[in-house]
Amino acid sequence: MDIYLDNCNIGELEKKYVIEALDSGYISTRGPLVKKVEEVLGEYLGGYVAATYSGTAALHLSLKYAIKKYNLDPLKEKIGVIIPAITFAATSHAALYNNLIPVFCDIDPFTLNLDPNSANEAIKLAKSKSINVKFIIPVHLYGNPCNMDEIIKLSKDYDLIIIEDAAESLASKYKDILTGTFGEFGAFSFNANKVITASSGGIIFSKNKEDIEYLRFLTLQARVEAKGYYHEDLGYNYRMTNIEAAILLAQFEKLNYFLNLKKNFFKIYFDYFKNYFELLRFQQTTQNSTTNYWLITVVFNKKLNITEFQKKLSEYNIPTRRIFYPLPLMEFYKKYQLTENLEDFYKNSIYIYNYGLNLPSSTKNDYSAIEYTAKKVIELISLI
Ligand SMILES: Cc1ncc(COP(=O)(O)O)c(C=O)c1O
Repeated sequence: MDIYLDNCNIGELEKKYVIEALDSGYISTRGPLVKKVEEVLGEYLGGYVAATYSGTAALHLSLKYAIKKYNLDPLKEKIGVIIPAITFAATSHAALYNNLIPVFCDIDPFTLNLDPNSANEAIKLAKSKSINVKFIIPVHLYGNPCNMDEIIKLSKDYDLIIIEDAAESLASKYKDILTGTFGEFGAFSFNANKVITASSGGIIFSKNKEDIEYLRFLTLQARVEAKGYYHEDLGYNYRMTNIEAAILLAQFEKLNYFLNLKKNFFKIYFDYFKNYFELLRFQQTTQNSTTNYWLITVVFNKKLNITEFQKKLSEYNIPTRRIFYPLPLMEFYKKYQLTENLEDFYKNSIYIYNYGLNLPSSTKNDYSAIEYTAKKVIELISLI
């Protein structure tokens, strides 16, 4: 039996649209399908969209443009960004591209998202190091929406600009509102392992049309075409390609089908695990929200060696993925350390890193693969 962790699910429609795009001669950043992606996703999200080459590019440019819009000068003043300790490194790398200082906070041990109380502490510690925190990047981890009421309150208390990292959370909702649409900007990824993919690819969302028009301009080298090869800002080669857009448009047609499959996968896991909650628990979906179940995640209650456990599962062809390594514990990020007491300040992140696991969630799986995985997880954890 083939079991897939987070693989993409590509079919005939994607091939058809790609061939049409190839035949049209538009294979790079120029092309009607990129504009169509912006229209279709703009309408879906309820605002405006700039199509980018990746989610990382979307984060980079969102921060860059917000710095410009609010007249901030990270080269003159130390400007901090609140980032949860558990996220993909692209979140904090994007801060560094912009000369911003990552200010890491701990996560909530149940939802696995940024903990506003820890963010509050981190802001104070940053202040004691003359870092003026101006941004917060809530990451909707594994598709689970952050508690946006709490984040908006924090942003008002400290006058923070919210840039949402919705890379993993397309279609997830907090209080019936799509994630990625709460902040100044929302960055999404369509990397191969996401709910829908463009191969690589991303978008920036905003409710402000002019902002998005400027961001589109930045993705195309900030070139003023009417003046030939004349550039009015520091631009980037960050625009989505027409081929990526072709794949994405086909995938978007299947979004509801994929979401439904993933919801059913969760139900299967839940039905198996519900009698074993003394052994493991799920990442808790935030109250008043719906997740896209991008990666279904459990946390074990037993003090097991997680890599050994992964090895045992892999003997049964069950692929799993460990939780992201806590960023502030990486050597590379040491110079942004807020406190000597890392073990205590990031205790939830460390715990979840040690005992959490992403389970097969790809829509390429059939239900029997998920049932088999659920059974084996229980069987093997019971032996420990
Ligand atoms: C939380 C998070 N942020 C940012 C990114 C970056 O997106 P991309 O890989 O499209 O650059 C990803 C995923 O890949 C992600 O999971």
